[in-house]
Amino acid sequence: MPISADSYKLLGRSSAGAVAVVAAYDHSGGVVALTVSSFVTLSFEPPLVMFAIQHNANSYTAMVASKTFGVSLLDAKQAEIGMRFASKGPDKTSRTKFDTGATLRVPLIPDSLAQIECLTNQIVLSGDHAIIVGLVEDARTTAGAPLLYFARQFGRFVPMDTK
Ligand SMILES: Cc1cc2nc3c(=O)[nH]c(=O)nc-3n(C[C@H](O)[C@H](O)[C@H](O)COP(=O)(O)O)c2cc1C
Repeated sequence: MPISADSYKLLGRSSAGAVAVVAAYDHSGGVVALTVSSFVTLSFEPPLVMFAIQHNANSYTAMVASKTFGVSLLDAKQAEIGMRFASKGPDKTSRTKFDTGATLRVPLIPDSLAQIECLTNQIVLSGDHAIIVGLVEDARTTAGAPLLYFARQFGRFVPMDTK
């Protein structure tokens, strides 16, 4: 028998992750975007990345239908953007200035730690989420520090001396 919803929520709080904004254009040219901590680099050859989106997200239908999407890994200085895109409603995209990809027409957050331009490669329905796999067509990184999320709080990476 699976664990209870409460136990599962506690499990979620024990998992730390990097924070990204995933964004795409919908069929009318508007931007849909949400904050995720489910982003991972998946495969070297071919270069694939993935994230998971919950079925009840407002951006779900447009994101699953889109043939391209952009991932912006947020810098520790961008917690406000992480919070903004975890909210709902058109306000979050209308008051954000997006970069456009160099290779694909995807919305990207300026000054983020990494900007990744993806062609949708595979969609796997799994539980109450869809896993969206993207083929990386272009990407750039900048020096900086990642925005992390743990125990319902944003935070920074602190390196340890393991020598
Ligand atoms: C740090 C953080 C990580 C999140 N990770 C995910 C995620 O991986 N997948 C997801 O579907 N929602 C995730 N969410 C929740 C969405 O950002 C939130 O439901 C958002 O309102 C969805 O926007 P939309 O309804 O406009 O699509 C996360 C929220 C936060 C604060």
